[in-house]
Amino acid sequence: MEKQRAQWGSKIGFILAAAGSAVGLGNIWKFPGRAFEGGGGTFVIIYIIMVVLLGAPMMLTELSIGRASQTNIVGSFQKLGHKRSAWIGWVGVIGAFIITSYYSHVGGWVLRYVAGYATEAPKIYDNPMGYFTGMLGLNSDGSTSFPWVAILFAAVFLLINAIVIIRGVESGIEKFNKIGMPALFILLLILLVRAVTLDGSAEGVSYMLTPDWSKLTFDTFLAALGQAFYSLSIGMAIMITYGSYLSRKENLPKNTALICGMDTMVAIMAGFIIVPAVFATLGGGEVGKGGGFAFVSLAGVFQQMPGGTIFGVIFYLLLLFAALTSCMSLIEGIVAFLTEHFSWGRKNATIGVCIALFLLGCLYTCSQVAFPIKGVWFDFANGLSFPAFGDCMEYLTDRALIPICALGCSIFVGWIWKQENALAEIEQEGIRFRLAKVYTIIIKYVAPIAILTIIAMGLISGMTLS
Ligand code: PFF
Repeated sequence: MEKQRAQWGSKIGFILAAAGSAVGLGNIWKFPGRAFEGGGGTFVIIYIIMVVLLGAPMMLTELSIGRASQTNIVGSFQKLGHKRSAWIGWVGVIGAFIITSYYSHVGGWVLRYVAGYATEAPKIYDNPMGYFTGMLGLNSDGSTSFPWVAILFAAVFLLINAIVIIRGVESGIEKFNKIGMPALFILLLILLVRAVTLDGSAEGVSYMLTPDWSKLTFDTFLAALGQAFYSLSIGMAIMITYGSYLSRKENLPKNTALICGMDTMVAIMAGFIIVPAVFATLGGGEVGKGGGFAFVSLAGVFQQMPGGTIFGVIFYLLLLFAALTSCMSLIEGIVAFLTEHFSWGRKNATIGVCIALFLLGCLYTCSQVAFPIKGVWFDFANGLSFPAFGDCMEYLTDRALIPICALGCSIFVGWIWKQENALAEIEQEGIRFRLAKVYTIIIKYVAPIAILTIIAMGLISGMTLS
């Protein structure tokens, strides 16, 4: 007898879980920096256009593949296309695995900073760089040791994920997101009010509101598109897995609009927190992005801000919720694949995946500043002109696996499964999709060309997708 497949318990549960996957570190520590580089308001406008034009159609595509197939990401392509299409799913699973290995460790670092700001903020303010590199194994005398602090917190972060995922789709992931996402919005609002009421923040607010078209280049479009895909969790077939737990009654275009709207709103709100706060404390030139910025530069912001330590705890808590709900979706994608493709039990699959992720992530964490592997890897990597092991992992996922999987999805729907089947899946139970014609043109022609351009530019100019 076929086992009953897991389903979301409620519509809002699904929307919050999918938005939880989308809202992640990408929104909070990448978007504001990208927006700053791209001329504030200019980037925000181009970003919204990219989300509407390409991000949302791609999300709708992944959700409909998942719901139509009612199976995992490799199985979906086999079931709806032919056996040969399975490679798209494999690229997705491998991409998800590699990205989660470092995403989960970075999540551990975030957890360490929640504890750090709560218990020893003066130590962070004293030497932000030393605190960060110390966590990663660099001693004050310049020698290195095993980065056990970072690794320990990564283990705790993965343990939280494992506990939630073992409980299942409805009682684990959905429940967690139903609490985590509203909490995230509240934290975000608190920080927004704090940031825009700081003395000197007005300049930052107006920077974000005023388009500076002189900063608009071809790269702005590519950066916005790459950011949109990464931020919406597209190209890792996560939305296929989440879509596969949806009932036929759900209106996919409406849900897609809600998820994309929430994700974009959080990114823009983060922009209106980080940029004005940095303008008010450190000066506009200091807005940056990524881990170095979030862990090191922001210490100066919290140190100078009235009540900064409390807001520091709130900020890292916000990052923690964002990272947890995204990481969970990635692990769920891999676990669903293992349970359905290889008939593993959910518990064993989750534990096995989390241990494997932990171990691979250790190489990422260790390759940052410490560890003997650094020397070995450097000799090897220098030959390939790659800077470090961790950078290679990001390079592989951002420039190759995510765009290749996204390209595979759009070609699959446009040319193999065919868009009329996707549209039939979307337009069920009396649901009308009024943008069907536009969607068809985008998915068949515009999306593949745009994604191929990202891949080509990534190879040529070093642009990354994330
Ligand atoms: N969307 C997440 C972020 O913005 O941080 C990252 C992510 C999660 C990417 C899940 C891909 C994915 F499948």
